[in-house]
Amino acid sequence: MRGEGYYSERTAGARNVINDAGAMVFDAIRDLPPTNTLRLADFGAADGGTSQQMWDMVIRKCRETDDERQIEMIYTDLASNDFSTLFRMMQGMQGDPTHAYQNHFENVFVHGCGTGFHKQLMTSESLHLGFSATAMHYVSAKPMEIPNHVHAVCADVGSKAAFGEQAAIDWQNILLARAEELVPGGRFICLNFGIDEEGRYLGNTGGKHMFDHFHKFWRAIRDDGSITKDEYERATFVQYYRTIEEFCAPFMDPDSHVSRAGLVLKSSYTKLTKCPYEAAFKSAEGKMSNREYAENLIPTMRSWSETVFKTALRGRESSEINKIIDGFYQAYADEVAADPEGHAMDYVHIILDIEKTAS
Ligand SMILES: C[S@@+](CC[C@H](N)C(=O)[O-])C[C@H]1O[C@@H](n2cnc3c(N)ncnc32)[C@H](O)[C@@H]1O
Repeated sequence: MRGEGYYSERTAGARNVINDAGAMVFDAIRDLPPTNTLRLADFGAADGGTSQQMWDMVIRKCRETDDERQIEMIYTDLASNDFSTLFRMMQGMQGDPTHAYQNHFENVFVHGCGTGFHKQLMTSESLHLGFSATAMHYVSAKPMEIPNHVHAVCADVGSKAAFGEQAAIDWQNILLARAEELVPGGRFICLNFGIDEEGRYLGNTGGKHMFDHFHKFWRAIRDDGSITKDEYERATFVQYYRTIEEFCAPFMDPDSHVSRAGLVLKSSYTKLTKCPYEAAFKSAEGKMSNREYAENLIPTMRSWSETVFKTALRGRESSEINKIIDGFYQAYADEVAADPEGHAMDYVHIILDIEKTAS
């Protein structure tokens, strides 16, 4: 993710999805077995900005219901994450301080962990509630470069299978690590990008297909000689969108490693969240120009995708990389501005509520 708060400032949709899960998180905390303190974790939190309002709301509800337990909040992400921005935001030193909950409540202790979530990140049986939003579609390793597209979701059968295998291994590792960390009766709530029962996924919900557009403009700059064939192929998202069946599979088999580690699935469902930028454009009823809409929509796509395309150009001067990447997103923005109909980034999540059994 781009740092310095760029990610959370441009991802209103991700924040809306998390805020909607606030009641579920609070109910799970209320249902925990009795504890003296509360240890919470937000896995793959980026700069923390998108979940800040939700955590502020959850902690407020705890305090309003006379839950005065000390709270330890652990934010996890990759070592490369901009944790400095995260810590500053929680203390109201950066960005909008409205939900800087460290300023609102006593006895809330914020920590960061820069190790990937495929591993165990905290001591055994010490975590009461884990939460993760829009992060576990990242696979731990790229099994291959996809030859004729940028994303596994649109790849050839062989490439898709290779990513699917990696994602299955990763999902098992993620779950086994959480099983180890959670106290008996602890919960893990995750909102993951995935494919719903109607085959819909991020940026492909009936209108223009976002990943096909990324690919179209990336291929165009290969075809006009701006980038090489190798650079074109290196732009492979290290991601896989699991179906709800793939998410649930480890829980369906009582003999799976995950079931034997004590995890049970309390609930699962899919959720479509409409693109807030498109909603604002439509409700403006002509008061927002097509160009303004394009300039709102493209940065939200850019906030999480840019790193893939920039990395594909490694070895070039950074000024040259920036020029190519600016041109790439500009081409997409120009197409949206010319005809916005169908261009949007709706989110599709698979929502899972998982419990570590008490025995
Ligand atoms: C799209 S952002 C989501 C951020 C935030 N949770 C939200 O919902 O807005 C995905 C985050 O997952 C992080 N991430 C990817 N792979 C990870 C891993 N193996 N371990 C921890 N974090 C990871 C990325 O660095 C990024 O910050």
